[in-house]
Amino acid sequence: MKEKVVLAYSGGLDTSVMLKWLVNKGYNVIAFIADVGQDDDFNKINEKAIMSGASKVYVEDLKKEFVEKYIFEMFKTNAIYESKYLLGTAIARPIIAKKQVDIALKENTKILAHGCTGKGNDQVRFELTWMKFLPDVKIISPWKEDDWLSEFKGRKDLINYAKKEKIPIDVSLKKPYSTDENLLHISYESGILENTSFKPNENMFKLTKSPKNAPDKEIEIIIEFTRGIPSKIINKTENIEIKGSLNLFNYLNKVAGENGIGRIDIVENRFVGIKSRGVYETPAGTILYKAHQDLESITLDKDVIHLKEHFAPIIAKLIYNGFWFSPEMEMLMSAINKSQENVTGEVYLTLYKGNIIVNGRKSKYSLYNEDLSSMDIEGGYNQKDAAGFIKITGLKYKNLGAKNETMGTKLQVE
Ligand SMILES: Nc1ncnc2c1ncn2[C@@H]1O[C@H](COP(=O)(O)OP(=O)(O)O)[C@@H](O)[C@H]1O
Ligand SMILES: [Mg+2]
Repeated sequence: MKEKVVLAYSGGLDTSVMLKWLVNKGYNVIAFIADVGQDDDFNKINEKAIMSGASKVYVEDLKKEFVEKYIFEMFKTNAIYESKYLLGTAIARPIIAKKQVDIALKENTKILAHGCTGKGNDQVRFELTWMKFLPDVKIISPWKEDDWLSEFKGRKDLINYAKKEKIPIDVSLKKPYSTDENLLHISYESGILENTSFKPNENMFKLTKSPKNAPDKEIEIIIEFTRGIPSKIINKTENIEIKGSLNLFNYLNKVAGENGIGRIDIVENRFVGIKSRGVYETPAGTILYKAHQDLESITLDKDVIHLKEHFAPIIAKLIYNGFWFSPEMEMLMSAINKSQENVTGEVYLTLYKGNIIVNGRKSKYSLYNEDLSSMDIEGGYNQKDAAGFIKITGLKYKNLGAKNETMGTKLQVE
């Protein structure tokens, strides 16, 4: 009996060669393809897996679960890595890796393989998730193993192996950069993009129009949230109303993309300490991030907002580094979920040539008190009380000022 291995199979050159290589090493290889919303021909990938020697192929549609249990959960936190990256790839790896474990359990094996390089973040995201859900997992990660590395130094060796073994090579291999796509984003990196000053061609972009080519027309939308989760989108300009997690997210991607929203070009710091240049298109996510944060401005208490602002980069780092299923993430998420109990309401936006313009927000749980905030109404606030408050707060300034005076440091300060 051959040992079974479940390979996370993306249909690219690496995993196709890996599949055959594992077969040639004597494994019974089961290919697992996750549909997380990438624009792929799954029948073709399925066929390719079989042609590469897979004994069985699983194509799993994870789109709805990805939106509801991963993307929407993450957007409750306002997580954004290094203040720029909306974690499009980072949040997709845990769901792929977890489903892979489910398949391994079904197939009664503990051997799992992926094609991630040893230089990146994805290997960590996969392997930590496997360890959590299959503690005695046996990991095959060829790019970290001698027998693979001695055979494959780079792309040329992979292509030669594919030719020798009659594995079909994709025409898309000609692309001078690599991409990773899912519902939340598409990333472009490596190849010609490794030169940080290189400006990518307009024809690289897939999910968004260039703002220059976007319609010269404002689109007004309303995003409705229920307990921190988007529950409805209304396009007021075009009289369209969309409900349902996946529908809504797809629609938001479409309208954002058409209006040139969601492109970034950044250099980020990988977990292993390597800097990496990435170009991303995150259309729906860019709007959701802004809208959700805006609704929190009226529905959350001041100090809750400030605490959440501390949490957000911590959470982003956890997700980026592959700790989505960690106990510390669970602890933080319980606080985040508590904070979202009243994040219900509407945010009014205008989309125009790459811009997201906030026009207002409304919630039945709003903490905004018009009387209190007004400059014209007293609203139960006695302005004379502020005098004592400032006097106490100012004590140390008076003390410091007086010391400076007597110690002759005033001149130095100036
Ligand atoms: N949709 C997917 N389904 C199954 N496995 C995937 C999927 N996307 C990525 N993977 C796994 O993650 C690894 C890293 O992905 P990526 O960096 O995009 O490299 P690749 O060029 O091999 O797709 C892949 O080699 C594969 O093992
Ligand atoms: Mg890929």
